[in-house]
Amino acid sequence: MAEPDIKKGLAGVVVDYTAVSKVNPDTNSLLYRGYPVQELAATQPVEAVAHLLWTGELPSEDQLSTLRRTERENRALQPDVKAAIDLIPLDAHPMDEVRTAVSVIGARETRGTLNVMDAVGTPQENLERSIRLFGELPAIVAYSQRRRRGLEPVEARDDLDYAANFLWLTFGEEADEVVVDAFNRSMILYAEHSFNASTFTARVITSTLSDLYSAVVGAIGALKGPLHGGANEAVLHIFDEIGSAENVTPWLDTALAEKRKIMGFGHRVYKRGDSRVPTMKAALDTLVAHYDRPDVAALYDALESEFVARKGIYPNLDYPSGPAYNLIGFDTLTFTPLFVAARVVGWTAHIMEQQASNALIRPLSAYNGPDERHIEGYVPDTSAIDVQERPEEAAE
Ligand SMILES: CC(C)(COP(=O)(O)OP(=O)(O)OC[C@H]1O[C@@H](n2cnc3c(N)ncnc32)[C@H](O)[C@@H]1OP(=O)(O)O)[C@@H](O)C(=O)NCCC(=O)NCCS
Repeated sequence: MAEPDIKKGLAGVVVDYTAVSKVNPDTNSLLYRGYPVQELAATQPVEAVAHLLWTGELPSEDQLSTLRRTERENRALQPDVKAAIDLIPLDAHPMDEVRTAVSVIGARETRGTLNVMDAVGTPQENLERSIRLFGELPAIVAYSQRRRRGLEPVEARDDLDYAANFLWLTFGEEADEVVVDAFNRSMILYAEHSFNASTFTARVITSTLSDLYSAVVGAIGALKGPLHGGANEAVLHIFDEIGSAENVTPWLDTALAEKRKIMGFGHRVYKRGDSRVPTMKAALDTLVAHYDRPDVAALYDALESEFVARKGIYPNLDYPSGPAYNLIGFDTLTFTPLFVAARVVGWTAHIMEQQASNALIRPLSAYNGPDERHIEGYVPDTSAIDVQERPEEAAE
């Protein structure tokens, strides 16, 4: 029999069309519905980019205020979600809290759909679910960080836009304009990235006609891994290990000798640099100036230039976003939950796209286990099978 052509990790496999975003590694560009992500990050609030990803167009002023109204109406930390988070031990990873919270929201929002065929929802229902989930997640992520610090949740502010309110919910004080702007940019850059592992997970779950919340819960599980979303917090662990710029060379000597993966570098698709890095690096630079932390920039530059020179592997978005979130005051453990709050937009856009043109995603595998074998002494009961009808014979 011919050897099957296995594409390990689905590398290079094109599984479907998408109109949500286009990654072009040759030109080092990322387009959301046709717009370069850099232009969106420089000019738009994250709410407008969410509208673009969900519907295909940037919103009119009316559409933006309608979306913002719904988003604001859903900002509160709901009692069911808070109670569920409070049951989770404080030494569990916050991604487990966020994943559980979305499960609770899903059970609440799809109540009454006991016939599983009904849970999938109409396109309009799923757009509304997406906006509500986008609205609810900041309070969850913020509460996760606050309770680890022994703090109570703070009331959402409906006079603030999404990014400013998110920071308010986390820190209980109004953030400076420059911080809000850097944070808004990061949320836009994290919002979408074609068929990455978590988005593909969401599409696989959606393809079974499961509901939007189940797909997002699965996506959160995929994002938790350090080869995907977990990398931004791993970058901070590396920064902590290295300490300062002058330690980069000896640290890298050891790390490379031990064949360690350097988190925040490398990408499955981009091999010559991640298109989102320059925008996020510029945001990081504004934070470095704002908080007067040139030491952070020095360490960043030293590790980047030395690793690129030695391995020819470039930073990905997690490399600048990790230290940026650290400067803003987010705990390292909160970084990947922040990614969830942003990427939920992309996931839900893909979920709706998958629903609109669905085919069950079910690849094949090539078996390489033991040949057929039998339990010693077991005598099969053939009496119940009509020998004429045995499937393997019928197939021959
Ligand atoms: C993202 C990532 C999984 C892409 O991996 P991939 O396309 O499957 O490529 P591979 O892991 O097979 O890497 C190819 C080669 O580059 C090396 N490499 C890739 N990224 C590396 C890194 N960050 N540090 C050290 N070596 C790296 C691999 O060891 C491998 O070397 P080899 O051929 O000598 O074995 C990988 O670059 C990685 O693990 N990066 C660190 C985690 C990270 O930042 N993830 C966030 C992604 S947005």
